[in-house]
Amino acid sequence: MDRIFRYEIPTTIEFGNGAVNFLQNHIAALNGTKALIVTDPGVEKAGVARVVSEVLEKAGIPYEIFNEVEPDPDIEGVMKGKELALEMNCDVILGLGGGSSLDTAKAIGLMLGNKGHIRDYVGINKVPNKGKPVIAIPTTAGTGSELTIWSVLSDKLQKVKLSVGSSFNCPDLALCDPELTLSLPAKVTAATGMDALTHALESYVNKATQPISEGKSLQAMKLINENLRTAVAQGDNKEARYNMLLASLIAAMAFNSTRLGLSHALAMPLGAYFHIPHGTVNAILLPEVMEFNLVGNISKFREIAKLFDMPIEGLSPRDAAYQSVVAVRQLKQDIGIHETLSDFGVTEKDLNLIAEEAMESGNVPVNPRLTSTEDLKNICRAAMGMKG
Ligand SMILES: [Fe+2]
Repeated sequence: MDRIFRYEIPTTIEFGNGAVNFLQNHIAALNGTKALIVTDPGVEKAGVARVVSEVLEKAGIPYEIFNEVEPDPDIEGVMKGKELALEMNCDVILGLGGGSSLDTAKAIGLMLGNKGHIRDYVGINKVPNKGKPVIAIPTTAGTGSELTIWSVLSDKLQKVKLSVGSSFNCPDLALCDPELTLSLPAKVTAATGMDALTHALESYVNKATQPISEGKSLQAMKLINENLRTAVAQGDNKEARYNMLLASLIAAMAFNSTRLGLSHALAMPLGAYFHIPHGTVNAILLPEVMEFNLVGNISKFREIAKLFDMPIEGLSPRDAAYQSVVAVRQLKQDIGIHETLSDFGVTEKDLNLIAEEAMESGNVPVNPRLTSTEDLKNICRAAMGMKG
């Protein structure tokens, strides 16, 4: 009650099955004359890039394709994409794919209006100018990058992940077409869905949250609880896919103004050193982080348990809150995420470095429980399957 909060979503949202078929109208509205499609080989192989390029061809809009985005996208890829856009006179950037493609597309757009290297803009609000218009078209339901201020990039030489956060990095339009997610494999659906859940949940319990984000987090968690299992078990279930893309978008609307928590703080170095897919590492960490954080916000964790339909009647507030951890573990099991950090090669001797780097994250100060480096190491130990 004693603080002023801020909520900002500069991105326009267009959402619905078949929404991508009207892409040409949005390009025209942004005064675009030639598009650069930024994507990755997997999206191309699944035929999704073809859907977009056919819409452009029918509308007579020229385009180029930059299809070199890799998982944990490198900063040099951004600079290469920017050069291609300049060389080919592209004036609107279409990000098409999961978080890696969208984060790269956003950063390319940004660099078309700013000097130097993307490395110069790491941090929050370091970018002086708006770049070229960006339309983000997600093909996974998890990242939320289609409307967030963040691009998470890698410096593969230095083995670090770098975050660029700026309202100029928000896409002009999030064009969300759930039909584009129908071909997503079950494993990716599960991991990205858990990323969306981690966004909603970490935003909901953290110290920086505010009433608008809280409402969005609750809505997103409810949709995920009701739809993620079906989306994984039946990839072609249109209703589950629709609701999961909606959930991921709404979760992003929640955390864009609040930051996250310890799962995301640890996910950065663990992703950089061990190349664990972002959704998977969050899924591994989330229940362990929740168990640690429980005492920091018992009433909120109790609310989460309720929302997950856990039997909490007659339980003490603390025991009811713990049921939220049980619920998330159950969800993980149901969608087939059984890995531990050890399965990705993380060992005891790595924990100092991981914990020290995670402590630098802006997600640590907002966490609901005061956290030490040793606490982070203990969370990692639990996520390695080393707990009693
Ligand atoms: Fe995430």
